[in-house]
Amino acid sequence: VHHLLGIKYLNEADIDLIFETADQFKEVINRSIKKVPSLRDITIANIFFENSTRTKLSFELAEKRLSADVINFSAGQSSVKKGETLIDTVNNILSMKVDMVVMRHPNPGAGIFLSRHVKASIVNAGDGAHEHPTQALLDSYSIREKLGGVAGKKVVIVGDILHSRVALSNIFALKLQGATVKVCGPRTLMPKHVESLGVEVEPNLRKALNWCDVANMLRIQNERLDISYFPTIREYTQQFGVNRKLLDSLDKDIVIMHPGPINRGVEITSDVADSKQSIILNQVENGVAIRMAVLYLLASKIK
Ligand code: CP
Repeated sequence: VHHLLGIKYLNEADIDLIFETADQFKEVINRSIKKVPSLRDITIANIFFENSTRTKLSFELAEKRLSADVINFSAGQSSVKKGETLIDTVNNILSMKVDMVVMRHPNPGAGIFLSRHVKASIVNAGDGAHEHPTQALLDSYSIREKLGGVAGKKVVIVGDILHSRVALSNIFALKLQGATVKVCGPRTLMPKHVESLGVEVEPNLRKALNWCDVANMLRIQNERLDISYFPTIREYTQQFGVNRKLLDSLDKDIVIMHPGPINRGVEITSDVADSKQSIILNQVENGVAIRMAVLYLLASKIK
């Protein structure tokens, strides 16, 4: 059975193939063709144990555009609340003849665990602070679209690197494609041996922004943050928040990204998020084509 559990398990050729496939789906979408029959015989369950707007809707739309049958499960309204385990939950869903499971879960490694216990293709839609592979793919795809490629580009990832599955998956994806990556954020939100991932730490935001072509601004994750990690949100914003004045004072125009949801006025101000330098909504748009490509390529192996 084939899965997408993390960028860690992909190579550069896999990413190239996903991007070339996404290019074709994006062309189809741009021609206003709403549906293709590629996954007509496939049933997909989207099971979400954590809240989501973009990832959940984007996967569902991708599945429907590929003509798959789709069922949706949110843990909050389910028998998980009565104590049913993850494996029992998924095995019950699979007994309804489901071929693929798209899962978001708060525990790191939940997708890997599931892939060892159930007979279905698993797509990781975010597992705790571990990986968010389709987010990293759509992020790199958006850089490629905006700047003509990823190799040789300088990307800084700013914020809570310690708790961020988006950061880890992006580091793996960008390095695989030959980008140079720096991370910038408070020391208390930086993993201890982050340099072992092949990135450099730049603690000064202005220096990081003056160096980069692209800044990926991460969300401050209040739900994963212990107050002892960083004293106040106001201090964070002062040192690591991007505003218009800071952007205008740089030597060049850089590209601004954010995975969403945005804490407006914390990691990024509205006049940056909604500016011409921002590709935040392009990232969301590209997410559908990327997820169509991932599902199509996995399904072609199980059909
Ligand atoms: N980027 C992202 O994963 O957003 P959601 O949490 O809304 O899915």
